[in-house]
Amino acid sequence: MSRVLIASDIHANLEAAKNMFKETSYDYSIFLGDLVDYGPKPSETVQLFRDNFDELIQGNHDYAVSHNSDDMCSPENHEISVYTRENITKKLMAKDEITYVGNLKRSLVAELDGVRVACFHGKPSDPLFGYLYPWEISSEKMRNDDGRLPTYDYVIVGHTHYQFLSQYDGMVFLNPGSCGQPRDRSHMPGYAILDTRKNTVELKHFNYDKFNLARDLKLVIPERKYLEMALRLFRLI
Ligand SMILES: [Fe+2]
Repeated sequence: MSRVLIASDIHANLEAAKNMFKETSYDYSIFLGDLVDYGPKPSETVQLFRDNFDELIQGNHDYAVSHNSDDMCSPENHEISVYTRENITKKLMAKDEITYVGNLKRSLVAELDGVRVACFHGKPSDPLFGYLYPWEISSEKMRNDDGRLPTYDYVIVGHTHYQFLSQYDGMVFLNPGSCGQPRDRSHMPGYAILDTRKNTVELKHFNYDKFNLARDLKLVIPERKYLEMALRLFRLI
């Protein structure tokens, strides 16, 4: 093992997913959660990621669709999140796909070529719903949900759709950004490559066919208000 692909928050954007796999090479792969909601192709995205990632962690949207519960996302995205879950995600996903995302693990702690990584969708103390931005990193935020303060070489999170690489207390903190719905300044989806032999991280951005995504969203969202919300969220308008 050497090159580890780390990606998060695809949100049923199959167009972006296909391009990410096309442009990168890797030996091992970890997905940090949120396969579904917002985007038009939840079923195909789950199948593609289930087949291509070695490890997948559960995100709050994966939990919400499989447990019929709220995703607890930020207030500005809540309305379009609920709408797309009820009208796209639940309608287009097969039962076994919903069961699959409902059974994903909440965290992954592993040693890759001697490099100790801990992966969460949100943050160590709240893997499903917590947010971790680089300016918030502290020892307190590092506590696991059982209150312990462990040490790793890499703490890897997703959920915010905000790509960053940072160091604190001898640990590297990494968020690969969102590979389907960027919310940071780049406006481009991203991922990260962790080279476990060189002990380095590359942050990546990539392009994809936004016209196809817009076309697919129009096909599944007939209401103009919600279509505009989705197009805006995917940075298409
Ligand atoms: Fe999330």
